[in-house]
Amino acid sequence: MGKIFDWIDSRFGVKEPHRRFLQRPLPEKLNYSYCLGGAAFTLFLMSVVTGLLLSIYYVPSETEAYKSVIRINEEVRLGWLVRSTHKWSANLLIIFIILHTIRVFITGSYRPPRELNWIAGVFTFIFAMASGFTGYLLPWDQKAYWATVVGTSMAGTVPFIGNALLYFVRGGPEVNGTTLIRFYSMHVLWIPVMMFIILCAHFHMVKKQGISGGL
Ligand code: HEM
Repeated sequence: MGKIFDWIDSRFGVKEPHRRFLQRPLPEKLNYSYCLGGAAFTLFLMSVVTGLLLSIYYVPSETEAYKSVIRINEEVRLGWLVRSTHKWSANLLIIFIILHTIRVFITGSYRPPRELNWIAGVFTFIFAMASGFTGYLLPWDQKAYWATVVGTSMAGTVPFIGNALLYFVRGGPEVNGTTLIRFYSMHVLWIPVMMFIILCAHFHMVKKQGISGGL
């Protein structure tokens, strides 16, 4: 294995950038609460991988969405496991982001020079919540439908731009097939890509500024 890796490395050069990226000085007083961000990232990756698998069978259409979810649960081999793992990792992601934020807050790690990284973190949280909201509609059952009717109608209460915002979110005056496709596109493409870009910036800043001191 080592020989094969050395052969690839001599042509591709992965060892050195990998070493530069991972080997960095850490503060002396670290504890497990400093792993919460890494745990959140692992959960993000798990949601992406299981989401990619679900997208093979899920059909984002008014007439097929509900049936395709039932098919995933009952007919596709291990479909139920992939779907449950997707749900659990998405829910745990929110919990771990909150725990990670509490750690960062308690250790005062939001202070200069890390304030921009705090702001980047806030955006990842907003996108994670948006991902949960858009994903909730996809099973296209009664619960999903009415939750989205209530959730999106809140956008309509925003002063001045409320109506335009409501039309934009729903793709029309009502929640229907257009909303489903809109939410699907947000859920599988726009939000994960935006989150990935912000996370790259987040990790770049962690690397540049180093981890702040212990509790
Ligand atoms: C998907 C969401 C997120 C992921 C995957 C993530 C990941 C990470 C990782 C791996 C670190 C390195 C240290 C550690 O693990 O504690 C870190 C540091 C940091 N994160 Fe996050 N994070 C996320 C969301 C947030 C949020 C919501 C905030 C704040 C609102 C935030 C603020 C920070 C700050 C300020 C640091 C630097 C902490 C220090 O140097 O001690 N992050 N993040």
